[in-house]
Amino acid sequence: MKGLILSGGRGTRLRPITYTSAKQLVPVANKPILFYGIEALAESGIREIGIVVGDTKREIMDAVGDGARFGVRVAYIEQEAPLGLAHAVLVSEPYLGADPFVMYLGDNLIREKLAPLVRRFGEEKPNAQILLARVPNPQQFGVAELADGKVVRLVEKPSRPPSDLALVGVYMFDRTIFEAVKAIRPSARGELEITDAIQRLIDTGRTVRPHVIKGWWKDTGKLEDLLEANRIILDTLEPRVEGELEASEIHGKVIVEVGAKIVRSVIRGPAIIGKGAMIENAYIGPFTAVGDQVVIRGSEVEHSIILEGSSISDVGGRIESSLVGRNVVIYRSESKPKSYNLMLGDRSQIGLV
Ligand code: DAU
Repeated sequence: MKGLILSGGRGTRLRPITYTSAKQLVPVANKPILFYGIEALAESGIREIGIVVGDTKREIMDAVGDGARFGVRVAYIEQEAPLGLAHAVLVSEPYLGADPFVMYLGDNLIREKLAPLVRRFGEEKPNAQILLARVPNPQQFGVAELADGKVVRLVEKPSRPPSDLALVGVYMFDRTIFEAVKAIRPSARGELEITDAIQRLIDTGRTVRPHVIKGWWKDTGKLEDLLEANRIILDTLEPRVEGELEASEIHGKVIVEVGAKIVRSVIRGPAIIGKGAMIENAYIGPFTAVGDQVVIRGSEVEHSIILEGSSISDVGGRIESSLVGRNVVIYRSESKPKSYNLMLGDRSQIGLV
């Protein structure tokens, strides 16, 4: 059994962060989202993983390398443009060959352990196994209709969903999926949809087994989902303090990484403070991930993700529910006339008080 992680695509909903960086490398609790997928596949016993890459290939290769540190062998598969999830499967055929495989969308996070599902798929050998989750907003996903425990219909992002069962970004396939992806045509959004390929399996009499997951699952393509994933994961971490504390208070589950310094500050967990970060005269509130080498002085930050190398100084008021990119500088300017001095990338968003 091989693994296939889809890490191409454009990440339009996380711009401007994704203008300069792959959406799958945005960290949740200071770890790139993509790493959770690699770890989940490795934990389920898979040793060979193909990663489909597009424009952000270099960056993904630099972050993941040959996979040795995850205990797997990683191969990179180039997709010339994000032409759809089924297109990604098509270009991966030479790598996958006749082996059954688990396909994992690189921007998804799921709690459910994959090992029992992978084992069952290997033993019972259906043609496909799909994972489903009940969601309040099925129009934003692929949606499944079941009858007598069987999948009868799948539709991609329907305006009138036939159920509240969304397709989770983890799928298991045998080689019959290649015939299906070759038989389908691009959808209205111009992509070869994996949802249509699975529908094709059903229509040609193949077995597609559904599994409704119980634990949480997040597609981290949007800011609010990313912040929620950060919140959930931070809550599961074991607290540890390896950095230095000076005249500071720490409450609840907090990780302070090596080389970080907390001076005259309060940190209320769950929170993580990255390596070499400097927190001074500041308050870091629950559900905050502060990246490596970040500086926060004279400011309050809560329920946010601050990426490495950024600095936040003397901000009046609290920064909340925010995603701050790499090497961003936020400061209070004392110069007159009193004005905001901004240098913002395209599609930045700022909420002023
Ligand atoms: O998150 C679950 C949903 O994922 C399912 O419910 C939908 O049925 C499925 O179509 C998919 O929907 P999205 O529109 O959210 O997919 P997205 O374009 O975000 O792509 C998912 C991942 O696959 C992401 O890491 C980028 C990568 N990708 C995407 C495309 C279109 C590729 O590697 N190549 C591609 O051509």
